[in-house]
Amino acid sequence: MDTPEEPLEIAEGVYWVGVIDWNLRDFHGYETPRGGTYNAYLIVDEKITLIDTVKASFADEMIERISRIVDPAKIDYIVANHVEMDHSSALPRVMEVAPNSKIFATERGKTGLNEYYAESGCSGWNFETVKTGDELNTGKRTLMFIEAVMLHWPDSMQTYLKEDNILFSNDAFGQHIATSRRFDDQVEDVMEDAAIYFANILMPFTSRILKHLETVGKLGLQIDMIAPSHGVIWRNDPQRIIDAYAKWASGTSEQKVLVIYDTMWGSTEMMAKAIAEGVRASGTEVVLFHLRKNDWSMLIRELMECRVFALGSPTMHNGMFFTMGGFLTYLKGLRPKDKKVSFFGSYGWGGGAIRQMKEALKNTKMEFVEDPLKVKFRPEKEDLEDCRLLGIKLGEIARS
Ligand code: FEO
Repeated sequence: MDTPEEPLEIAEGVYWVGVIDWNLRDFHGYETPRGGTYNAYLIVDEKITLIDTVKASFADEMIERISRIVDPAKIDYIVANHVEMDHSSALPRVMEVAPNSKIFATERGKTGLNEYYAESGCSGWNFETVKTGDELNTGKRTLMFIEAVMLHWPDSMQTYLKEDNILFSNDAFGQHIATSRRFDDQVEDVMEDAAIYFANILMPFTSRILKHLETVGKLGLQIDMIAPSHGVIWRNDPQRIIDAYAKWASGTSEQKVLVIYDTMWGSTEMMAKAIAEGVRASGTEVVLFHLRKNDWSMLIRELMECRVFALGSPTMHNGMFFTMGGFLTYLKGLRPKDKKVSFFGSYGWGGGAIRQMKEALKNTKMEFVEDPLKVKFRPEKEDLEDCRLLGIKLGEIARS
């Protein structure tokens, strides 16, 4: 097998044994232009412990990597921090190789693994359920478990290696980057990748994140390294990613307006550009996003830190354009905080796009501001002036 990446010793006796998914371009809909990794870690002590596994398609690659350090059949403990398939679907293969190992998971983790792998013989697996503060001695080392409910699934958990001050944080603090580098100080723009990841994976759980950071703070852990299950390991002042999470979870907003739209024959785009010009004229930064010409993951990252946005759609078949429907479904699920939104769009005869866009965001915490702007067929000069004035108002709202 061609496995060029060697296992990497990240601390004495602690190894990265994950896999790099160079060709990952879509992580359940989240676009990942830089690829990704599924990180697993091996702790070699009197007992051999594997922390998380990888996607099933990479199982043998991970096992081969482990075999360069120890005989995989000698794995004593497996910590399953999270049920989602990118970290657990190689578990049945690992259990074939090391059938006597004991699996540590939260109660919900055990339930989820049983539900996922019922046909893989998991009823015969030896589980031990754990909760926050429980410890596992591996010989000279101690692992402490920290539940991380809804970061980002109910079963999620983190594991802290006490003697080495390493937090195996699972999904939290991850980034989707495929790289032969393993540490944050070796990769450019890692904080930006972490922000994109936060916006698209963790934004719905900001209250939980703040609570979790408080819990970890109360535990008084010295954290010298954060080893997530995706991307590079934070060893260069890991507090900076903790602080970034606290900032993003608090909903801190930039003074910027996004104009997000799609267009059929250019009328809604003319409106979008006139609104953008108004925002610019007001002295506020503005960014335009055409929904079929931009990566939505990046759009969501921009939206995370901006308070005001305008949504524009032409009317098609009496409703909003289909891309806007998909985008608003995605956006609503991410539950962004403290957002103000305005609507615009062109129509030919019946209209309906604005009504549907407002309907889609009803019952969210997003506040509708300013009257929607509708234009029949093609905007005239005065219509574009109305758009420009709307842009000025949105720019002023963003700065207020
Ligand atoms: Fe990386 Fe929730 O899985």
